[in-house]
Amino acid sequence: MNETFVLSAVAFAVLALTLPLARRRLQLSQAKHRSLAGHSRMAKRVASLLPGLSYDEQRFFDADGAAAGTVARRRAGFEQLCALYRTRYPRSAAMTAEAAQGLSDLQFTGAYRVPFPFSAYLRQHLKTGSFVQAASGVTLTDLDGNTFIDLTGSYGVNVFGMDFYRQTIAEGSAMVQSLGPVLGSLHPVVASNVQRLRQISGLDEVSFHMSGTEAVMQAVRLARYHTRRTHLVRLCGAYHGWWEDVQPGPGNPLMPRQTYTLEEMDADTLKVLRTRKDIACVLVNPLQALHPNKPAPGDSSLVDSSRRTSFDRERYTAWLEALRQVCTERGIVLIFDEVFMGFRLAPGGAQQYFGVKADMVTYGKTLGGGLPVGVVCGRKDLMKRFREERPADICFARGTFNAHPYVMGAMSAFLDRLDSAEVHALYDGLDARWDARAAQLNSALQSAGLPVQVGHMSTVWTVTYTQPARYNWMLQFYLRAHGLALSWVGSGRLIFSLNFTDADFAQVVERFVAAGQQMQADGWWDGPVQTDRAIRRSLMREVFMRRG
Ligand SMILES: Cc1ncc(COP(=O)(O)O)c(C=O)c1O
Repeated sequence: MNETFVLSAVAFAVLALTLPLARRRLQLSQAKHRSLAGHSRMAKRVASLLPGLSYDEQRFFDADGAAAGTVARRRAGFEQLCALYRTRYPRSAAMTAEAAQGLSDLQFTGAYRVPFPFSAYLRQHLKTGSFVQAASGVTLTDLDGNTFIDLTGSYGVNVFGMDFYRQTIAEGSAMVQSLGPVLGSLHPVVASNVQRLRQISGLDEVSFHMSGTEAVMQAVRLARYHTRRTHLVRLCGAYHGWWEDVQPGPGNPLMPRQTYTLEEMDADTLKVLRTRKDIACVLVNPLQALHPNKPAPGDSSLVDSSRRTSFDRERYTAWLEALRQVCTERGIVLIFDEVFMGFRLAPGGAQQYFGVKADMVTYGKTLGGGLPVGVVCGRKDLMKRFREERPADICFARGTFNAHPYVMGAMSAFLDRLDSAEVHALYDGLDARWDARAAQLNSALQSAGLPVQVGHMSTVWTVTYTQPARYNWMLQFYLRAHGLALSWVGSGRLIFSLNFTDADFAQVVERFVAAGQQMQADGWWDGPVQTDRAIRRSLMREVFMRRG
């Protein structure tokens, strides 16, 4: 009797201890997005198991089982495109091929422009150049003298046009000339930058770093230090730089450690934030409003036509407000990572655009006025790096090049211009202007009978495809042939600078449609009718059977 009582008591105690744990674990699972991107550990394991597959010549053209006539048209079109690239871009391509031997980044970007089964054959035959010699207005000129309309946006740095940054760099350099590249002591321009950033961010203090990645590292480190909690929450799909804890899963050799990747715009995520005690901060990248829960849409993952965008400003605002509320209730640091979107949506960044205030904000890219930078703005109590009462308990953050005089000079020139009437005019009616331009392109694509549309959030655009197909990634090469420069991620990310005029944009529409029509004429969209799901399944079957 006694023994039974003891056993029951022990069982009860064990249950009482483990049930809340199990409940919290279950809550965490429910707050993960159902996709692989929502499950970093699993994604990492799957990525490590994925066998290579490289299509041979035949398969390169008939991967979707297209009819012989279509395959012949594709071959002819591809050969023509290769010949055009050979004759039009010889110097750019030759320098790229030579430099790639010693420049690992070029090898990587070259290999991941398209889905991996197509990559080797494509690289062997279609030689793309990665070198340019000049920029002006909204154009880039390569080593062979070809001029392209620039849709790369310099990874988002280029908000106001390249001539703008050329001037901010020159003005900034002149400003700090007498001091030169002295580090450690600060040029006076730093003090005025701090004042202006406090005003823009509405936050108390500022720290300077050399890249967006470093700024995010510092914001997260400070959040952990002050909350004395271990974990950061990153929302599914969001990019925050390439530092370990913000990039769990594929691409990171370590298993995820102290990061929860939770579903964006989801009530279960709020539940987790409301109940767990180990969460130091939530990182928000406002760019995700364009495609919540999806990773950056590079063409290397464009295996079918399931890419979608769904920007809904009101819904995203409501989501940020809900996050704001729960973070306030739970003492969790809400960090807006505006490295990409800051100054692109509004002069006061995403905080101003969505009307929600963060505890910390990271900026970078364009804020350096064309030079490399990362910035953290934060509440006073969160920015402090030491405790008066515990002198050895510090939150260390240094960086040789932080607040470099030339960067600070260019930033100052950038901030001066941000205040100018000319730049204010660019922000006036910004959304309406870019909504109308997206509608203009979509209507032209539709009228031309092309299975292509664009989705957008202001000046950041993504090309989507309206009928299931395997070869959508080819579009980037036709766009290039028609004088539109895309970054290595291809049609997933087009970035416009605000200085595009209506005439510039009309050129984009014309070239875009012409590129699509040539691709259509070459038969790449003429495969047998299949669903996106069927395309993905058959690709998976092929990959695991190691065909090709
Ligand atoms: C939102 C966001 N955070 C951080 C980073 C990292 O910035 P950087 O490339 O300057 O390290 C990026 C870069 O694209 C970004 O888009």
